[in-house]
Amino acid sequence: MHLTSEERQMLAGEHGPATRKAMEILTALGTIYAAERMVPVTSVQIAGVSFDNLGEAGLEFLSEMAAGGGQAKVLTTLNPAGMDIENWGAMGIDADFARNQERVIAAYAEMGILTTCSCTPYLFGNLPHFGEHIAWAESSAVCYANSVLGARTNREGGPSALAAALTGRTPCYGLHLDENRRPGLTVQMAASLTDTRDFGGLGVAVGRAIESRQLKVIPYLRGVPAATVDQLKSLCASLATYGGLSMFHMEGITPESAQFAPPDETLVITQRDLDEAIRSLDVFPSSEEVDFVSLGCPHLSINEIQRVAKLLAGKHVRKTFWITTSRPVKRIADQMGYTAVIESAGAVFAVDTCCVVAPIKGRFKALATDSAKACYYASAKNNFQTRFLPFDEVIEEALR
Ligand code: F3S
Repeated sequence: MHLTSEERQMLAGEHGPATRKAMEILTALGTIYAAERMVPVTSVQIAGVSFDNLGEAGLEFLSEMAAGGGQAKVLTTLNPAGMDIENWGAMGIDADFARNQERVIAAYAEMGILTTCSCTPYLFGNLPHFGEHIAWAESSAVCYANSVLGARTNREGGPSALAAALTGRTPCYGLHLDENRRPGLTVQMAASLTDTRDFGGLGVAVGRAIESRQLKVIPYLRGVPAATVDQLKSLCASLATYGGLSMFHMEGITPESAQFAPPDETLVITQRDLDEAIRSLDVFPSSEEVDFVSLGCPHLSINEIQRVAKLLAGKHVRKTFWITTSRPVKRIADQMGYTAVIESAGAVFAVDTCCVVAPIKGRFKALATDSAKACYYASAKNNFQTRFLPFDEVIEEALR
């Protein structure tokens, strides 16, 4: 693997022990994937923030990197943590967990990393443009960056994303290269999509179809006349979860899709396919037993929070209802009075975290959400049953 003189200096330890360790991680990764060189990155997003996932060993690694003088060289933000950093008591988080989570955040802060904990960094300023090389880790954000923004990133692990932050480099392989961004399967939509839940359902249908064919292809989606940012983030989370995809092309949306002709091999998604995908996640029939409602997987935009405030105004929820979003978006909600409306209806902001990474196993029986990804992890990680509903109906479920 060819390294520049600066990269060789980093590897030799001339920029300190943490940078050397980071460069060792990146050269090992580059060797595994036969990268010929490193590529400079302009933005990093790090996963592996919740103490629930990191554990003591992960925290120790972060502390060593911070003590070894590691400093972020490019704009770097974090994925959700295991709790609301400012308001963890209201979420029912225990004090030991909170202390450890705070140590994780402190280690990242010491390395000059922005401690905004969110899977939607593109909604508050970590927003790369077309063609930029970046190193992001959260699967839904990676899919969004490649497919909607047209930036270039592989799906990084926690250590490789941190290493990219501390060096400003990533090995040049996979989705950093033109030849690996070509679509291999046309997906023709023949169903109507109206809501974030439908776009999540589309991700389930396409993701499962691709997985069942044991294909490793980038799909080229046609027949979606329009899609909002909120719908696209829902689709990205779902495709990454159910199909392991880090990229798709969507005609009229993906900046580079016009460079490619739609591939001959075609998968048609009918209304029946979409309905079946949605039904497969909506396994819990009775509304009495839904005891947990959550919106914000991926983290809610201000547009979505405005909608929640409108539908909750003057009402009172009867179930635990989490609104999960990033700190910067919550600040706009505060400023606009949406937070006051939502909190007086009895819903809880769970900022910096989400219903998947927070340690809530055993606390609830059944989750209602509009997120296909949240349904997957609610069942697989926390053993909850799931109701998979359109956005507005999730709010109605909380009021029931
Ligand atoms: Fe984000 Fe948590 Fe969902 S990290 S995509 S809200 S699982």
